[in-house]
Amino acid sequence: MISMPSLRAKLVAYTILIVLAVAGAVSAISVSLSYRASFAAFERHTVVLARTLGEAVLEPLYELNIKLMRQQASSVLASEGALRVMILDAGTRVLTDGTDENPLRGKRLNAPHLLQARETAAWVTRLQDGVLLVAGPVQATADRRLGYVVLEFSTARLDAEWMKHIRQTLLLSGVCAFLASIAAVIMASRITRPIQRLTDFAAGIRSGGGKREVPDCGNDEVGRLAEAFAGVLTHLDRSNTELKALASSLENQVKERTRAAEAGSKAKSEFLATMSHEIRTPMNAVLGMASLLEETGLNEEQALYARTIAESGEALLEIINGILDFSRIDTGKLELQTAPLDLRELLTAVVRLLSPKPDEDRVTLRLDYGPDVPSAIVGDEARIRQIIVNLIGNALKFTEAGSVTVGVTGRADGNRAMLRIAVTDTGPGIPENDMQKIFEAFCQADSTASRDVGGTGLGLTIASRLAELMGGGIEGQSEPGTGSTFTFACSFAMAGNLVPG
Ligand SMILES: Nc1ncnc2c1ncn2[C@@H]1O[C@H](COP(=O)(O)OP(=O)(O)OP(=O)(O)O)[C@@H](O)[C@H]1O
Ligand SMILES: [Mg+2]
Repeated sequence: MISMPSLRAKLVAYTILIVLAVAGAVSAISVSLSYRASFAAFERHTVVLARTLGEAVLEPLYELNIKLMRQQASSVLASEGALRVMILDAGTRVLTDGTDENPLRGKRLNAPHLLQARETAAWVTRLQDGVLLVAGPVQATADRRLGYVVLEFSTARLDAEWMKHIRQTLLLSGVCAFLASIAAVIMASRITRPIQRLTDFAAGIRSGGGKREVPDCGNDEVGRLAEAFAGVLTHLDRSNTELKALASSLENQVKERTRAAEAGSKAKSEFLATMSHEIRTPMNAVLGMASLLEETGLNEEQALYARTIAESGEALLEIINGILDFSRIDTGKLELQTAPLDLRELLTAVVRLLSPKPDEDRVTLRLDYGPDVPSAIVGDEARIRQIIVNLIGNALKFTEAGSVTVGVTGRADGNRAMLRIAVTDTGPGIPENDMQKIFEAFCQADSTASRDVGGTGLGLTIASRLAELMGGGIEGQSEPGTGSTFTFACSFAMAGNLVPG
């Protein structure tokens, strides 16, 4: 991972860059200004020398006194930096160059600066390859020109002085930049130290350890930031404490209410169980007496009354048994009684019992038990029957015409049998929204329909709870208008040595 440069390093780097840029710019401006000033002074000096020489040779030129002209020229030639001094006649022919040999004498000079001086009648200077050229006319009067003075001076001394100046300036800038860098390091440390302290403190808080006291960060912006941070921390601590208190009080409330609700629910279930049990005993007596009454010599009307008493009692007993089962399951008191059984036989008996009478031929009921599907299992026969009776009972109850099929599929898996008992009808079906609801206690998909056919709405609840107790489950699938399929799926232990009877 590339680590980002620290604030301190950035501050130092930026400060040094700024100092270097400023020092460089100031040095460059200073060097160039000073060079221009020195050069202008040098130029003025040479022009003054040339003019003075021009005045001095006015008379010798007039008299054409070459010796005197050479003396004057050689005195100028002796001055520092002078390379050549020439006095020319009006036709730009060299009269003397100040030396005894005078090699150029008589030669015509056609240098551009001389031609310019000749045309403009003014003093002309020009810099060429490190040599300053000066040329100007010698006038007797405004109309009469006697000749020209041409001087050549070396700028070597000027250049040397300039180089020296550059070196000094660079040295000075370097020293300044060095001092500024030291100052930048000190300044950056001072600025970043409190920020670092605050960062370390925040990191300590985040890792859960560390002191809760905000470090001293001075009185400037960072100090104020630290104070604000301290304020936020205090506020957070207070809110945390309040939240914890609230959470614990809520938890206590929830516990208290759950306990009360559980106690209420248990009391309700126990009451239901006791009541159902208590009603069942006299109800059995009523049923027994009704059947005894039926066997005595009754006339037709009396026999009808006695039958009605018996049938109503049986219906009531069924409801009471349902409520008793439900409360037993709800309070966890229902225990399964498992034993080896033959499922094919069990289902055949149930289908035979529930099959509509042939004269009421509106619905047919049949069993479809696959030949290879295991049949000898270990389970609670009475409870399996209760589940199947309920599913088939519902299918028959809600199907006006058509068929109800009990299909059994499954396979052996080691010493267990995975079985699916599906009850399919051609009834009215159940809307998707109601499918979940009908597994809840006392819930019916269409209360008007069930009013016609009767029932408490407990059958599926009890059946699915029983299936869950066996480690399986019941699921329903339906298409309104076409029919429904309720499937009881469960894994049973296989009863290997069951003798089919
Ligand atoms: N095969 C089915 N076809 C259509 N609707 C059904 C079917 N099976 C169940 N239902 C709907 O689900 C509701 C609940 O069924 P459940 O067996 O729990 O109660 P019930 O049959 O009404 O009463 P109980 O079974 O207690 O006598 C039914 O009232 C009915 O609306
Ligand atoms: Mg039912």
